[in-house]
Amino acid sequence: MTAHPRQLLLRKYDVPGPRYTSYPTVPYWTGQPTASEWLDSLARPPAGAAIYVHIPFCESLCTYCGCNTRITRNHELGHRYVDVVLQEWELYRRRLSPENRWPLAELHFGGGTPTFLEPPQLRRLAAGILAGVQVTPDVELSLEADPRVTTREHLAALAELGFNRLSLGIQDFDPKVQEIVHRVQTEEQVHAVVQHARELGYRSVNFDLIYGLPFQTETSIRDTAAAVTRLSPDRIAFYAYAHVPWIKPQQRRFTEADLPAGESKRHLYEVGRALLEGGGFREIGMDHFAKESDSLWQAAQEGRLHRNFMGYTARPVWPQVGLGVSAIGDSWTHFAQNEKVLEPYMTRVLSAELPVVRGHLLTPEDLVLRQHILNLMTRFATRWDRPELRTPFLDTAWARLAELAEDGLLELTDAGCDVTPLGRAFLRNICMALDARLARQTPPEKLFSRAV
Ligand SMILES: C[S@@+](CC[C@H](N)C(=O)[O-])C[C@H]1O[C@@H](n2cnc3c(N)ncnc32)[C@H](O)[C@@H]1O
Ligand code: SF4
Repeated sequence: MTAHPRQLLLRKYDVPGPRYTSYPTVPYWTGQPTASEWLDSLARPPAGAAIYVHIPFCESLCTYCGCNTRITRNHELGHRYVDVVLQEWELYRRRLSPENRWPLAELHFGGGTPTFLEPPQLRRLAAGILAGVQVTPDVELSLEADPRVTTREHLAALAELGFNRLSLGIQDFDPKVQEIVHRVQTEEQVHAVVQHARELGYRSVNFDLIYGLPFQTETSIRDTAAAVTRLSPDRIAFYAYAHVPWIKPQQRRFTEADLPAGESKRHLYEVGRALLEGGGFREIGMDHFAKESDSLWQAAQEGRLHRNFMGYTARPVWPQVGLGVSAIGDSWTHFAQNEKVLEPYMTRVLSAELPVVRGHLLTPEDLVLRQHILNLMTRFATRWDRPELRTPFLDTAWARLAELAEDGLLELTDAGCDVTPLGRAFLRNICMALDARLARQTPPEKLFSRAV
């Protein structure tokens, strides 16, 4: 095996590619399941289900943002939105037959910014969903929050209902980077929110960081990593900046010349990783870190790590129901996404309709490949040594897998493949080799950010 120098590999594999929060990836979904098909697919053994609630509001727009947001300072809209989401949940409750009603294992508030909602509204939303629902003994209740708008009262309102996990958007602490991405927040602000969370009993605090933002340098990454180590979260998501200005025009507010790309972008990750590891964090999955005391690290050690639309989780939970504008549900055999624009979403729910706008019914091939891609993303390895783990596309993919192996990124055998330490930086490229839908149809337009 001849391993190319790493820089050549970074050049070779720096191509647009999906992030694989699902397989098939969203642009390749081929249909719209009817409400009854979707509801039927939710029937699972009653081990526990997850609910994701999307709260799209933010008071100001960060220029790098790729999320589904509605920028407003009108908090009255938040009140109405809570009514509508609770109504959507009621539609599910009414339509799911009693034997399909599962205990709740996870409830996650994401966004946008859930703490845009005022504390009583946040509490009303959580209490309304939890009312009358049986929860598993180890239920995880979590929220995403922006430290600039999150008060002790927000965290207390949810802690009283049992919320125990908090994820904070940090991104970067460098003032020059913060200014150009229109997101100025100090270490003191973040410290105060972390302190409140600890005092209120939140047992896991995550920080979101991004590498590849405009004006980031090795020095700014070093300073950010040092501040993060001082603030001592339990988990870190260290995301590669996804630059998709043709989808998110606010990303045109800086020029591409200001963006670290390719090798220099990866270098920022490597610098950050070394410092975070020195600060007591362990790398798990793709771009994620956890302290050894955190359940995500334990799950990774025991091969239980899982990944869904919200990122890495410590266990698989099915089905996942998405509530709110643009939210995605996943029953393993079906995906369903809600209306992506606020007004049609609200109108459909108010007309007592499930607001699903598109989705996908997975084919037998999709199901096999989905499992392999999930295995690679969570365990850096997969096996196809049993007939039910095989599909004819694996033969088609063989040449591409062999090339990855030739480049030193994979160890490939008839029984499966293992990602090498060098290959970890190219995990998205490796998953692309198993993506039958991408292989059969090059996306018609620019869709994906770069894989490296
Ligand atoms: C919904 S936000 C987190 C909560 C809150 N809105 C905040 O920003 O503090 C989700 C996370 O997605 C990440 N993100 C957003 N746009 C991104 C992009 N273009 N590339 C990579 N990560 C991005 C950021 O790290 C952000 O914290
Ligand atoms: S990063 Fe968070 S706060 Fe900023 S616009 Fe996106 S969702 Fe809103």
